[in-house]
Amino acid sequence: MKILAIETSCDETAASVVENGANVLSNIISSQIAKHSQYGGVIPELAAREHIRNISWVVDSAIKDAGIDREELDAIAVTSHPGLVPALAVGTAFAKGLAMSLDIPVIGINHFLGHIYGAFLEQSEELSKPETYPILSLVASGGHTALVLVNADGSTKLLGQTIDDAAGEAYDKAAKLLNLGYPGGPVIDRLAKEGEPKYKLPRALTGENGKAVKPELKYCFSFSGLKTSLLYTVKRIIKEKGYNPDEIAAEKEAELITDQEVKDLAASFQEAAVDVLVKKSVKAAKDFGAKTAVICGGVACNRELRARYAPAMEKIGVKTVIAPPKYCTDNAAMIGGLAYLYALKKDYTDLNFDIASRTGEMPSLPLNIES
Ligand code: KG4
Ligand code: ZN
Repeated sequence: MKILAIETSCDETAASVVENGANVLSNIISSQIAKHSQYGGVIPELAAREHIRNISWVVDSAIKDAGIDREELDAIAVTSHPGLVPALAVGTAFAKGLAMSLDIPVIGINHFLGHIYGAFLEQSEELSKPETYPILSLVASGGHTALVLVNADGSTKLLGQTIDDAAGEAYDKAAKLLNLGYPGGPVIDRLAKEGEPKYKLPRALTGENGKAVKPELKYCFSFSGLKTSLLYTVKRIIKEKGYNPDEIAAEKEAELITDQEVKDLAASFQEAAVDVLVKKSVKAAKDFGAKTAVICGGVACNRELRARYAPAMEKIGVKTVIAPPKYCTDNAAMIGGLAYLYALKKDYTDLNFDIASRTGEMPSLPLNIES
């Protein structure tokens, strides 16, 4: 079964043809990074305009690269939520139109579950084994930071998510503050390697500051304080050099800190962000008796997170599956792979389906567990 998948939830226009949930026949990604970089983050309306300009050739290339005719497609999968609404609108409208013209069904896919499937795309047989469950997944990207539980009966639960900035968004804002460009994750990750984590930055909602974490925030994240604390650390460094930070324009502040200070700030930021991501995931894995832990989403490319996650999980007897880098950042192969599970059950989506910025009630996964 060949499924064409379309992903336009954020700033990547992506299309892919996936056969039987595992065989990626094509995987085209047109990134808009250059368009958004001058703003230091993704502008939803600009993203939508770029999707409109690119979607047609991206889909055509995915079909051509797969070496098939569009008449050979069995279904069209498309990300329906969560995401930037103007961006999702482009992909879903295109998917519906193409599906109608080819007279094939559409499958609307939850972006979080797509990311989780992406981690298993090259080992999808693991999803059929009962011993894989429950799966605790950290979905961390520029738009989201969430802990999702997947049970063997296919039920899924959003345990918690960020209450302000997403982890990737915090990386992007920190990089903007340090004049490092966009996206911030890869550059901070690279510079952190050459720095010392010598500045103390907060680990919000972990209880480390002596403040009890409210029960409803146990599995939630907060990264806006980390970014603010980085800003105040920069101001403090500048002040120690004899300048008055109140008299210096925000965009000039980074010019007054040395390259080594930038590296140390990057290392300190990375240490704090990764610490929170690992600790919260380990807590959730323990509390819910997870057998497998997954990291996916753009932030899962992070070198330090990749290095620390598996050993931390191993300590509590949990196996880790990390999405390969090419399936970490937004792509359509993960959407087409997951759609196969729905297609096997003929669980198609009505053409009137809605798009949504938030995930709302998490859909269940139509798993085929070996008995
Ligand atoms: O999943 P993704 O492509 O798009 C969204 O749905 O947002 O993730 C992009 C995000 C950006 O915020 C980027 O800074 C972050 O992932 N990112 C990283 C790294 N590589 C990408 N964050 C931390 N470390 C990295 N190495
Ligand atoms: Zn994503």
